[in-house]
Amino acid sequence: MDRRRHVLICGGAGYIGSHMVRALVEKGWEPVVFDNLSTGHHESVQHEGVTLIRGDLMDKQSLRRVFAEYSFDAVAHFAGLIAVGESVLSPLTYYQNNVAGTLNLVEVMVESHVLRLVFSSTAAVYGNPGTEPIPENHPCLPLNPYGHSKLMVETILEDCCQAYGLRSVALRYFNAAGAHPSGEIGEAHASETHLIPLCIRAAMGTGPELKIFGDDYLTPDGTCIRDYVHVCDLADAHISALEFMDQGPGMHVFNLGNGNGFSVKEVLAAVEKVGGKPVPHRMAQRRAGDAAVLVADSSRARRELGWRPRYSDIETIVRHAWNWHMQQKFGGE
Ligand SMILES: NC(=O)c1ccc[n+]([C@@H]2O[C@H](COP(=O)([O-])OP(=O)(O)OC[C@H]3O[C@@H](n4cnc5c(N)ncnc54)[C@H](O)[C@@H]3O)[C@@H](O)[C@H]2O)c1
Repeated sequence: MDRRRHVLICGGAGYIGSHMVRALVEKGWEPVVFDNLSTGHHESVQHEGVTLIRGDLMDKQSLRRVFAEYSFDAVAHFAGLIAVGESVLSPLTYYQNNVAGTLNLVEVMVESHVLRLVFSSTAAVYGNPGTEPIPENHPCLPLNPYGHSKLMVETILEDCCQAYGLRSVALRYFNAAGAHPSGEIGEAHASETHLIPLCIRAAMGTGPELKIFGDDYLTPDGTCIRDYVHVCDLADAHISALEFMDQGPGMHVFNLGNGNGFSVKEVLAAVEKVGGKPVPHRMAQRRAGDAAVLVADSSRARRELGWRPRYSDIETIVRHAWNWHMQQKFGGE
């Protein structure tokens, strides 16, 4: 691709979306961010060449105005609510925002003849998988409304590819982690549920002690194992997905993970090593619905997207996250 592209980034002021915005700017493209700033931060997209439009996917008219004003080549859709526990307590909110919001977006895309969409899906679609690493053709049995909402959207996109000639790539991320190497943007979720920032905040004394949910799993040290993938590597995969959609119509699903699992205790040790401080922690009961091991088989993304993670080492991932927390200027607490 050699010409400038206008790409709409829904949810681009959030953690992963803002890294995609930065990657597009670095490539000379012109991202337009559409975000209601419910969990995102305008500071994370204050960058030359980036347009931020404050709007909500639930407001179809404001989407129509954006599509009338700009001529988009493609859309990358990060906007969503992401907290699994909250989705169990407020399923309607999750289905409204994540499913109905996406329906609005796709409807306006089809009306506007913008037929390329990269969608942020999740490993949560697999539920409690029976194999490891998990390939894309593993049965999808989500355990909570969050995972269901993402799987529903994948199904909707597949149908829209058949009916309207949409081209779509759903990227099933495992555990997004790390921060931009510049330290300028990173993970700033107001109610944080992710392990690495929780460890870092505990170590820095800016958050409570870490709770380790269960140490009696069938894993070498008894704690859960997850696949941590650097947020900049996720952004790279989105750029490859935009190019991949040039090849033809249809719906394509890719796992994005490093293929290496790290236990909670191993991550905690990596944070202590990188930060040079202890991570205060205590053991707690298992949480319902936590799988023992979630590790991706990402060979399809490597083969078909040519995706090569640049930062697969857990200490590098933690170091970038640590540097970001040291410089954090907005939003975290
Ligand atoms: N963080 C992870 O580990 C992870 C893993 C798997 C999948 N995902 C998916 O990746 C996407 C991005 O995750 P994140 O960690 O960056 O979350 P985030 O909360 O940081 O970003 C989501 C962004 O979407 C915006 N948004 C939410 N609802 C909106 C709406 N109705 N209209 C407009 N904007 C809206 C928020 O303001 C925020 O800026 C989500 O869809 C999430 O489900 C994340």
